[in-house]
Amino acid sequence: MFHTPAPHFAETRRLILRAWQRSDLAPFRALNADPLVMAHFPARLAASQSDALAERLARHLSENGWGFWALELKHSGEFIGFCGLNQPLWQAAFTPCVEIGWRLARPFWRMGYAREAARAALAFGFTRLRLDEIVAFTVPANLRSVAVMEAIGMQRDAKGDFSHPQLPAAYPLAPHVLYRLPAAVWRSLPALSN
Ligand SMILES: CC(C)(COP(=O)(O)OP(=O)(O)OC[C@H]1O[C@@H](n2cnc3c(N)ncnc32)[C@H](O)[C@@H]1OP(=O)(O)O)[C@@H](O)C(=O)NCCC(=O)NCCS
Repeated sequence: MFHTPAPHFAETRRLILRAWQRSDLAPFRALNADPLVMAHFPARLAASQSDALAERLARHLSENGWGFWALELKHSGEFIGFCGLNQPLWQAAFTPCVEIGWRLARPFWRMGYAREAARAALAFGFTRLRLDEIVAFTVPANLRSVAVMEAIGMQRDAKGDFSHPQLPAAYPLAPHVLYRLPAAVWRSLPALSN
């Protein structure tokens, strides 16, 4: 399921969205061990948990042709994190759905890479997968993630606020906000150069 060379699924001006390769494991471990990157998740990941996650994401991509892609910087070849599409397996009022998600290593924050990759993932979802809608969700405190959602044209569904079914309801990270992007709205967005 790890590929060398890794097939490319999409490209943007500065990024390649590609399959996972074994050399991603070390930088992915560092990213998943960073307390700031993981601030809005229940816990940081140990190296073995990070490897297991990469294997799961790589397998999903191999089997389905879409998922959370590894992100590579075109100019340096560096792995900087992941972005892509996922079908949550748990149930909520808005499932079944396809969500868009992202996680970048801290040195690569605040450069516009997340929104650049996210726009490519949306295009893949709406054109190649012909999805009717893509959603995103996070804890309200994750303002950086919310900013990416808004930058790519997603709109908050205030009635969609939910308690994450995989977390105990009383847990501080359980309450989530829901953002939606219907295909028709995506088609009406101004074209932005990536
Ligand atoms: C969420 C996350 C991916 C957002 O990363 P980010 O770097 O803030 O988002 P973007 O790539 O869209 O970058 C936007 C910033 O880059 C700046 N920027 C610089 N060059 C830019 C360019 N060429 N184009 C667009 N923005 C640019 C923007 O002005 C903005 O800066 P600001 O933070 O001062 O407002 C990142 O914080 C992260 O990985 N967090 C941890 C994991 C996580 O929480 N994932 C989501 C779970 S729901």
